Amino acid sequence: TTQVWQLDPSQPDAQIIEKAAAIIKNGGLVAFPTETVYGLGAHGLSGEAVAKIYRAKGRPSDNPLILHVAEIPMAVSLSRDLPTTAQLLMKTFWPGPLTLVVPRAAAIPREVTGGLDTVAIRMPAHPVALALIKAAGVPIAAPSANKSGRPSPTTADHVKADLTGRVDALLDAGPAGVGLESTVLDLTGAVPIILRPGGVTYEQLQQVIPEVIIDPSVLGKKLPANEAPRSPGMKYRHYAPTAPVILFTGATTKVKEQLAARYRELTSQGKRVGILAAEENIPFYPADAIVLPLGTRENPAMAAASLFALLRQFEQLQVDTILAEGLDTQGLGLAVMNRLQRAASEVVGC
Ligand code: TXA
Ligand code: MG
Repeated sequence: TTQVWQLDPSQPDAQIIEKAAAIIKNGGLVAFPTETVYGLGAHGLSGEAVAKIYRAKGRPSDNPLILHVAEIPMAVSLSRDLPTTAQLLMKTFWPGPLTLVVPRAAAIPREVTGGLDTVAIRMPAHPVALALIKAAGVPIAAPSANKSGRPSPTTADHVKADLTGRVDALLDAGPAGVGLESTVLDLTGAVPIILRPGGVTYEQLQQVIPEVIIDPSVLGKKLPANEAPRSPGMKYRHYAPTAPVILFTGATTKVKEQLAARYRELTSQGKRVGILAAEENIPFYPADAIVLPLGTRENPAMAAASLFALLRQFEQLQVDTILAEGLDTQGLGLAVMNRLQRAASEVVGC
């Protein structure tokens, strides 16, 4: 069974944190909030403890995990050769939603790195996460706390739905803030590469490292069959809600028209269709349609905060298909579009 502990997100109860940290130290699993999404944590230097994460999630074991730290010296100890850019980025963006891929130290178990020679590290900006890591005294390996292939959890209820009985404890401190996972930045090559866009934006990174580039797979460019993806996570279709997502991209007027046309076509076939639309576009669609608001076009932060919860809501509404409007890729819009692309079974360019 899973013990659920409620915590004040800004002032976590020290006794509860101690109990949760003891579970981590003893090789158990604790789900905990971060500022991005909920994580599923285990002792990051114990291969045996980390192996339990894969079992609980049903995750392929070649997809490596992020090590979460509470202090910069802990991060330094996890890399055999920390690039100078890494130090600069840590000072600028940590604690925060930025994960750095760097050469790994020998002590890191292969269960964490999936056999790679690199390791992903981040310092989360959530008082509960930081307190838990400090109390455990070790880096905490943690993927998002969802069943593999499901949308990442932004509330404790999402974690319960996916992992009850599969983790020892769940720290419930209310909804996560950003709502999408951290930015994953590869620092092991000549040029820093964004492998996964997230809470720290491309524009923010450019201010500090002007040469940063975005991996072409981020916006759905297919890799040639003989080329291995840089981040193993990129080869799996993620966030696959039960109903297929059809994503419409391009100019808003055309997106609305083509989406509405597909809506009429599918409903006339007797399908139950959900629509994910910018608030200001909702009046355009039929009044009896199931439409959920993905923020406003001006504010991708709202879309980021609500996307995963909305995908789960569509499941509860038992729709057969989700028709989604695309967003501009500025700022957090890039991360939202990346998640929509990866959830989509079809992308319609309008
Ligand atoms: O916000 C987040 O990052 C959340 C919270 C819990 O911290 N965690 C998270 O973990 O999203 P996960 O396991 O769902 O995603 C980690 C991503 C995967 O795409 C994985 O392939 C990539 O990071 N990754 C991990 N280690 C890597 C490495 N050594 N090289 C390249 N990519 C790596
Ligand atoms: Mg995940």
